[in-house]
Amino acid sequence: MSLEKPIPPHSPQSLSVVILAAGLGTRMKSQLPKVLHPLAGKPLLNHVLDRADELHAMQRLVVIGHQAELLQSHLQHDQVETVLQQPQLGTGHALTLALKHIPHECHTVLVVYGDVPLLQLNTLQTLVNLCDGQHLSLLTQIVDDPQGYGRILRDANNRVIGIREHKDASASELTIKEINTGIMALPRSQLEGWLTALTTNNAQGEYYLTDVVELAQQSGYTIQTCHPEYAWEALGVNSQQQLAELERHYQAHVALTLQKEGVAISDPHRFDVRGSLQCGRDVYIDVGCIFEGTVILQDGVRVGPYCVLKDCSIAKNSQVLAFSHIDGAAIGANNRIGPYARLRPGTHTEECVHIGNFVETKKTTLGHSSKANHLAYLGDSTVGARVNIGAGTITCNYDGVNKHQTVIEDDVFIGSDSQLVAPVTIAQGSTIGAGSTIVTSTPPGELTLSRSKQVSIPRWRRPNPKKN
Ligand code: UD1
Ligand code: CA
Repeated sequence: MSLEKPIPPHSPQSLSVVILAAGLGTRMKSQLPKVLHPLAGKPLLNHVLDRADELHAMQRLVVIGHQAELLQSHLQHDQVETVLQQPQLGTGHALTLALKHIPHECHTVLVVYGDVPLLQLNTLQTLVNLCDGQHLSLLTQIVDDPQGYGRILRDANNRVIGIREHKDASASELTIKEINTGIMALPRSQLEGWLTALTTNNAQGEYYLTDVVELAQQSGYTIQTCHPEYAWEALGVNSQQQLAELERHYQAHVALTLQKEGVAISDPHRFDVRGSLQCGRDVYIDVGCIFEGTVILQDGVRVGPYCVLKDCSIAKNSQVLAFSHIDGAAIGANNRIGPYARLRPGTHTEECVHIGNFVETKKTTLGHSSKANHLAYLGDSTVGARVNIGAGTITCNYDGVNKHQTVIEDDVFIGSDSQLVAPVTIAQGSTIGAGSTIVTSTPPGELTLSRSKQVSIPRWRRPNPKKN
């Protein structure tokens, strides 16, 4: 599912994205660094890093401070640079430290926050494009409640002349509804000069990055502004409550995008994609489903309520019924899976397969029209076509040390409550009598059973209860 139509970047090789993430996330009340809390199954910081990738940034630089070791180890496998900011003397100080690592070939520095995960690609691209030789650009927003935000100061000609932090603002400045989201694009060549001119002469005793705006304006730069397309894009996460709110904004946006493509989602408020979900035509998704990793639903697929689907593909017109859990499986066309089925990695089904309630499969292939409708475990198995697996069938694939294969050929009927002790092959057309424990391979076409003959004991009586 592509949520964004990528716009070719303005200057692909010359963008450095600086991600500020040195602050403390006290209000999360958690051991985990704030920017590592997941949204849609992915850490906040990785949402931001992925956006920077989509912008084709030549450099991604993360400013870290609090819990730096945890963040560093989280980032160690990524193509990301980190800059340590200790102590944290403000956003201006953070960028000053970052600047030392930004190559001179870089034209534009985009400043984003590690705890603002929902900025859309188009918004950032527009902001970056507005920043050129004579302009810097700010992402601003008109809000009803500007409490806490820096206010955008404009002159009589509506030109931006500065940003006033809430704590430094006069009564009249506090009435300004246009706020600084904190996201800005700046020309690399001018930054050194502007940043060295910053002072801590303000209410918080910090180096404010926002003071760069007034300096830029004074040195002849024009400040461009743009707004995010969606009101929720620039929201940040400071608390568990805000994290949950952003999660719902994200999911609502994903649901809406899919609805526009024709997917029927019975309740977008009870719908979660933690990865990517690709849908064909006439797909229906009932309430409470979670899609993780990469999930593909082909035309006509119906997913019942409360299913969890992870890294799987479901071919045309198959149904997944309520409370099923599918992970790492490829489901063929016209299957009926569930309710209450559990398909684990390495499950493959051909067309018209039925897997019913309380059936678990793992590393197992089922051929055309085969059925395992109730209570079974099929592990490390190859099941042919038109096979019926009776209720209670178990492939005993593990001897306590190694795993072994079970092969069940075409047209086999396995009676209920049978154990197939692997390695074993049930040859084509075999019938296994109910309640059998099969330890050696069977001949084709015959009935095989392994259980003692049924006896009835005449005049047998149940014991009487003991008397005290
Ligand atoms: C900042 C802006 C304000 C804007 C608001 C939007 C400044 C001075 N103010 O204020 O105009 O309306 O964001 O949310 O920039 N950080 C560091 N190192 C530091 C300080 C902060 O890395 O020394 C990081 C934080 O982790 C955070 C981001 O920068 O991700 C913003 O810091 P925060 O303290 O939230 O800024 P505000 O005071 O809210
Ligand atoms: Ca903030």
